[in-house]
Amino acid sequence: MATGDWWRHGVIYQIYPRSFQDSNGDGIGDLPGIISRLDHLNDGTPDSLGVDAIWLSPFYPSPMADFGYDVSDYCDVHPDYGTLADFDELVRQAHRRGIRVLVDFVPNHTSDQHPWFRESRSSRTGPRRGWYVWRDPGADGSPPNNWRSYFPAVGVPWTLDPATGQYYLHSFLPQQPDLNWWNPEVRAAMHDVLRFWLERGVDGFRIDVAHKMARDPELRDNPPEPSGGFPAGVRRDEDWPEVHVILREFRRLLDGYDDRMAVGEVGIYDPARLVRYFGDALDELHLAFNFAFLVQPWSAEAFRASVERYQSVLPEGAWPVYTLSNHDNPRARSRYDGGGASGERRTRVGAMMLLTLRGTPFLYYGEEIGQPDGEVPPDRVVDVHGRDPERTPMQWDGGPGAGFTGGDPWMPVGSAARSVNVAAQRADPASILSLYRRLIWYRRSSAALRWGSYESVGRTPGLFAFVRECGEERLLVALNFRDEPAHLDGSSLGLPHRGRLELSTDPDRAPGAIGIQPLRLGPDEGVIVRL
Ligand code: NOJ
Ligand code: CA
Repeated sequence: MATGDWWRHGVIYQIYPRSFQDSNGDGIGDLPGIISRLDHLNDGTPDSLGVDAIWLSPFYPSPMADFGYDVSDYCDVHPDYGTLADFDELVRQAHRRGIRVLVDFVPNHTSDQHPWFRESRSSRTGPRRGWYVWRDPGADGSPPNNWRSYFPAVGVPWTLDPATGQYYLHSFLPQQPDLNWWNPEVRAAMHDVLRFWLERGVDGFRIDVAHKMARDPELRDNPPEPSGGFPAGVRRDEDWPEVHVILREFRRLLDGYDDRMAVGEVGIYDPARLVRYFGDALDELHLAFNFAFLVQPWSAEAFRASVERYQSVLPEGAWPVYTLSNHDNPRARSRYDGGGASGERRTRVGAMMLLTLRGTPFLYYGEEIGQPDGEVPPDRVVDVHGRDPERTPMQWDGGPGAGFTGGDPWMPVGSAARSVNVAAQRADPASILSLYRRLIWYRRSSAALRWGSYESVGRTPGLFAFVRECGEERLLVALNFRDEPAHLDGSSLGLPHRGRLELSTDPDRAPGAIGIQPLRLGPDEGVIVRL
């Protein structure tokens, strides 16, 4: 089979290190724990999930105000997670299994405990003052402008620092001061961080809030926000033109190494604006997350429209990304739980959609077993933004620590762990895990799914159907989003009379010859049919 860039055809699996696997009983996931679970991710056989890469959310030293997205040292490992030697071993062990490793790069802000910020805040005239964004209060003591923190609980993204009587900017928590990317020394220091990890052998980076870094150097007010949010391009606190210069600089640096990549977290929902992050000459991000799926209702029409709108603005040569869950949003299993049997069936349909569309799929840990959000009682809440439920421990088995830990887990184990876990699903051919494994290994063997063309077919209400094609290989994917039988009228769509059912989300439906005029689907069923 021809090969393309690995990050275009591979499946990428996100690990939230704190919650994946604890190795020493302290209740906190760690790097040795991840190493011990690599065989689950890819042991080279279809008994494993078969992913091509992992993305590790931050494991750096951090006071954990934002669970690692407040970094106090970019070039080390938090002792909770292990050591740099453990990291090197993780890269070695992953690479041995053909798994690439992406690390999280958090360039917009540091921790307020980072030595750079400690120095910056210590005097108005010190050498690192200009590394952050400092401004005098208004005449009445008010903050410098009307911007708002991303976290509603924070509100004003400016904190007055009594030591020097100026405000500093923090787009997120007060413990996450924004770096001043207009300062060339900041750029040079952060480029060194990229080099540090590249030299250690990482295959690339997930770039945190890649659309933020640059903002209006004059810090002018945002215009009043219309109900429904800002239209694209009018905010002054993010998505500023200079950010593209910064991303081009990252890209040039990465291009100096062999076969590395960057995927940006670009929190922009307007696809036309989002795709600018690939760069006019495809010289910025290799991939830019498209978060549209996180906000779609469970509707064939909504997902189809989202895919088509995105594809219609995607520049020639740029490549889509799809994702249904991550550490910042309720898990897909819970978002789309219509209750009863439909909830699990929808999870299966979502899996088939994610792994058959034209684009790079990102899977969030636990998604492969249909792990729902955990229950987090008020006295165990640790996140300022309500994201604890999607960060509960990976459910490896039905024991008290879910196989995640022998100790007290830092976050309660979800009550579903007793039945929804890897051990229970591993040997069950009808399980969600078995479906994921089949889908991923099927995808690995299929040029049409990995890089073939995409064409949506039909407009049957409740059905999302498309054809993926590469050379002789032609696959029809039909996804029934409704809890009732449906059929796709193949004859009016010019499809052949018969095909071969390769895979159904319904474990009771065996592969084999199948009629497509019409193609009949069960309630909440998805199928892949070879034409
Ligand atoms: C996006 C990350 O995904 C989120 O978890 C974090 O809180 C913010 N960026 C700030 O770093
Ligand atoms: Ca641990």
